[in-house]
Amino acid sequence: MKAALEQIRQDALAALQAATTEAEVEQLRVRYLGRKGSLTEIVRTLRDASPEERPALGAAINEAKREVEARLAEVGGRLAGESLARSLAEDRIDVTQPGRQRPRGHVHPLRAIEDEIVDIFTGMGFRVAEGPEIEDDFHNFEALNIPHDHPARDSHDTLFVEGGGEGLLRTHTSPVQVRVMRASRPPLRVIAPGTVFRRDDLDPTHSPMFQQIEGFMVDEQVTFADLKGVLSHFLRRFFGAETGVRFRPSFFPFTEPSAEVDIACPCTRGGTADPACRVCKGGAWLEILGCGMMHPAVLRAGGLDPDAVQGFAFGAGIDRLALLRYGLDDLRLLYDNDVRFLSQF
Ligand code: DAH
Repeated sequence: MKAALEQIRQDALAALQAATTEAEVEQLRVRYLGRKGSLTEIVRTLRDASPEERPALGAAINEAKREVEARLAEVGGRLAGESLARSLAEDRIDVTQPGRQRPRGHVHPLRAIEDEIVDIFTGMGFRVAEGPEIEDDFHNFEALNIPHDHPARDSHDTLFVEGGGEGLLRTHTSPVQVRVMRASRPPLRVIAPGTVFRRDDLDPTHSPMFQQIEGFMVDEQVTFADLKGVLSHFLRRFFGAETGVRFRPSFFPFTEPSAEVDIACPCTRGGTADPACRVCKGGAWLEILGCGMMHPAVLRAGGLDPDAVQGFAFGAGIDRLALLRYGLDDLRLLYDNDVRFLSQF
């Protein structure tokens, strides 16, 4: 019996020595000290021992129990400490690590250019107006001095709304002039950016849907000098203070006199144009916008008296300004919505 006790004691200590987890230690505690554990059961064999042997045997059992209990506590404590240290190391948060970047959207390059143009004009006291994209014949043509048989209608390649009576997709932003004049009194300083539509096939320089910005000013004694001042200021703010600007006589039904405005191509900075320039093809000047003094018939259509007030107007293609600014030569890039392209801006 003494030998049996010694065997149990040694087994228990060896098993504890080899234990690597707190769960194993707990299993050993049950196996040796639990209600049916071997050191618990061996107590029952005491009654088979002789009265003389009993006290020493009992003391030996108690001693073995204490020793195993102490080792259990020691090994269990060590393993618990180790596992705590391990989880602290594994779960450690490095507060010096940079945060994870979340992809962020941004303003579309075309919209960014529009915002920039609007900023320049609002800085000169212009306000922003909007008009409908589905227009009628009166506002898109008639009131702008483009009567039914006028050849200018052909050049506009109008898209008509099916079953929409007179409905058509506006071919330019000029109808906003008429809508604003009929809704408010001079002095007027207004810009109207927006989408316009024409029956064009998509190619590097054409799109059936594109962006224009219209601007006009109506007041007493507005002259062509005001027009030149406002547009020169705009173009130099937009393209740079040193940009050459040229006004060329032109024709539009809704302005008289009319002009087209060019800027000097950046390739002319050295003096003469570069014949191999991709942008101006050696022509030196880039056509940017159309403008003129508002035709008396247009002021009248807007409910104003052309003898009392005058106005100037202009219209520019935002897409073209964007292509020039970004050095692009294909309009379609601005409308394809390819994120690989857009994310470069
Ligand atoms: N509406 C013209 C177009 O789309 C552009 C234009 C030219 C607007 C001259 C104007 C202007 O206001 O005065 O082609």
